[in-house]
Amino acid sequence: MGNIGKRAALNGRGWIKIDPADIVNPGHNAAAASQLRKLFENLPVDPYCGPKTRCRRFIEFEVDPVLKAVEPLPAKADPDTGEMFVEYFQNKQVNPDDGGLGRRFPALDLSPCNTVFLKEIIWNCYELTEWPPETRDVKKVAGFHTVSYQPGETHQAVASPNVFHQDGEPYTFGILVERLGVNGGENYIGTLDTANKRLDEIPGTDILDTFTLENAFEGFGVCDRIITHYVAPLTRKAPGEKGYRNIILLDFTPIP
Ligand SMILES: [Fe+2]
Repeated sequence: MGNIGKRAALNGRGWIKIDPADIVNPGHNAAAASQLRKLFENLPVDPYCGPKTRCRRFIEFEVDPVLKAVEPLPAKADPDTGEMFVEYFQNKQVNPDDGGLGRRFPALDLSPCNTVFLKEIIWNCYELTEWPPETRDVKKVAGFHTVSYQPGETHQAVASPNVFHQDGEPYTFGILVERLGVNGGENYIGTLDTANKRLDEIPGTDILDTFTLENAFEGFGVCDRIITHYVAPLTRKAPGEKGYRNIILLDFTPIP
């Protein structure tokens, strides 16, 4: 399936699997990919994750569909601590675990995100989306999360929310950067009937697809109004040995 076929699938049935060639332009250099991997080093623990098995940072980009430009947006400084943060809001309806409040995530540094390599990935994902006439040429905000699932010795690493769900943004993409020493983390796609339900509450007929991202720059895209998605918990492959699944989560929303 070429990119035109994938665009049709994302906007028709509601989800696609992404191959590295769909989003990484040929000729990128290894240094750019290694710089991206470095964004996942020393991520702070997600303040909204109880057992401290999920680490993350966040930044927003502005996508201009007319100029075909992608530029990072500045974070805010906490007036008390000076730490840079970006606020992320999901309503309770789409995220029963952590929705209903603005989650303040530590910001990614601007300069390592301001690369041609990264902006091309964001633009290539954006090109798979479709918009109604009233928002087609409107600038979009691209939420860009670096999330590292790091299961502990006794605690699984789970996503937020840990149920089948919609995100509340029109499109979300997940792009694996690195996976090592973990079991689980299978991706599921479900019908809208599965929203806010656990995997064990769902009949098999409501599960539309399942796959596991194993290699760098494999990913998926979902059209939020059509289907739900879910990622299963992760555990360590070998007791006593650390493992991780590092993934970019990217969502697009029109700027009002
Ligand atoms: Fe999600």
